[in-house]
Amino acid sequence: MTDNNKPKLELNWVGKNNPEYDIANIEPRILEEDPTLSNCVNDPHTENMIIHGDNLLALKALLPEYEGKVKCVYIDPPFNTGSAFEHYDDSVEHSTWLSLMKSRLELLRLLLSDDGIIFVHIDYNEEAYLRILMDEIYGRNNFRNTFIVSRVKKNVREREKVKALNFAHDVILFYSKNDTSLILPPTKENKKEERWHGFDAAGYRNGMDYELFGFKPTAKNHWRWTKENTFTAIDNYDKWVSEFSDKFTLTEYWEKTGSKLRFVRKHMKTGKPEYFIPATTHDILDTNWMDILASAFRWSFPSGEKNESLLQRVFELNTNSGDLVLDSFLGSGTTAAVAHKMGRKYIGIEMGEHAYTHCKVRMDKVIDGSDQGGVSKAVDWKGGGAYKFYELAPSFIVTDEFGNPVIDTFYNDAKLIKAMCKLMNFTYAPSKTEYWKHGVGQGKNFLYVTTQLLSCAMIQQIAAHLAVGETLIICPKKYEPGADKIDSRITIKKIPQSVLKACHFGKKEYLLPIKETAIEEFDDEMDDGE
Ligand SMILES: C[S@@+](CC[C@H](N)C(=O)[O-])C[C@H]1O[C@@H](n2cnc3c(N)ncnc32)[C@H](O)[C@@H]1O
Repeated sequence: MTDNNKPKLELNWVGKNNPEYDIANIEPRILEEDPTLSNCVNDPHTENMIIHGDNLLALKALLPEYEGKVKCVYIDPPFNTGSAFEHYDDSVEHSTWLSLMKSRLELLRLLLSDDGIIFVHIDYNEEAYLRILMDEIYGRNNFRNTFIVSRVKKNVREREKVKALNFAHDVILFYSKNDTSLILPPTKENKKEERWHGFDAAGYRNGMDYELFGFKPTAKNHWRWTKENTFTAIDNYDKWVSEFSDKFTLTEYWEKTGSKLRFVRKHMKTGKPEYFIPATTHDILDTNWMDILASAFRWSFPSGEKNESLLQRVFELNTNSGDLVLDSFLGSGTTAAVAHKMGRKYIGIEMGEHAYTHCKVRMDKVIDGSDQGGVSKAVDWKGGGAYKFYELAPSFIVTDEFGNPVIDTFYNDAKLIKAMCKLMNFTYAPSKTEYWKHGVGQGKNFLYVTTQLLSCAMIQQIAAHLAVGETLIICPKKYEPGADKIDSRITIKKIPQSVLKACHFGKKEYLLPIKETAIEEFDDEMDDGE
């Protein structure tokens, strides 16, 4: 029910509002670079990131720094194939899948820029449910398209009675964050010579049945253009015949005059009107992307490796060189590889071991230029660039042997400061001049984190340096009695007590209830477009 008690159109499921999956309760971990896995010799300051870990935690970890900065999200979550639980229970399995996707889609929306767009690759198992969920999170008016892409074809030879036909396509749901963002329609190569075509078009249209060269459109048809435009087109053709036909072909004349002029003439034999269609090299595409086979089989990744050409088409819709793209179900690393080759910045998140065995290995081959498959030829890829490899830090709070919440030993002083900035909602930005400014918050609010005993004298000294309008939160492990009463501009919040309720600590991961099913290699005449 909405605030004014009017029921709203929504999808409901068991545990939809389970606080465990509420994004406010997901712990904002820090991300730790592993320099032994990064490949950034070419560019030590690269912003490209491969993150190993659960994507719900990783997306929350990215939020403070990347909110509103991602231009394009492509995700290819595991399709809910209904085989995850030993005793399959439709409502539990689908409900959990929906709850976990909801949290991830909410975080992805926050990460998108105002002109950002998102693509979710899915199949028939959850398409309908996902569409309604996306309507709820992104707004129904921000639904843009559903693309269909070709699935691996089953080579069916026996014609026998079956319950349903084979599924020939996956879908990609396309939403924008706002309804103002524009995309450039993709094209597909299709060379066609210049030609002349009859001027009739199907269907009656009022006023479009005027007489032309002594003819009217055939019954129930109309002429393609208004009378005024048509007579201009006849003049254009006559002008070419009388003044230019000995110098240029019609196509050359059309190109020299701005590639805009229209031409109409009489058909040489019948005398009926016909119009000129210039030569074209490409077709502008609609939502039918069946020319691309969704799957690829280059990296020995049986759980749904996608075709690089598909990602290239997606990125060309709204991104330019330097724009940030994100994939939180990275799999074998296709999104990162294509983004890298196309000069986009990228963040890829993958929780499986294949973050090391596939994503890293593949990206290293992209960087050294030895990956010449996929879109490499199309974008003339020669190698170069860099990425950094990150791990999710462990949970900030653990329980000690007496059952008390304590800070995990992973957090040395430097990591503690970073973690506290995230937990307190401050941007980690240590000042070069004032040791007590570790984080910057709203307005002139700052955060200082210390593991030393905070004395009254230290507070007095800091207070003397606070500028007009500045306020400070200090998070010490211990403080002297009375320290919290010294200056009203300074608030003291002890660690870890002050953050114990900030979120749910101790979760290792938030698993979608799925079991990957291997995609069979195609066995007929269709190639994988790579
Ligand atoms: C269908 S595959 C993606 C394939 C990818 N598009 C490609 O071209 O290789 C889905 C991936 O999501 C990963 N995944 C599933 N749940 C995840 C989670 N909670 N966090 C991070 N990755 C997850 C799986 O390990 C799997 O690699």
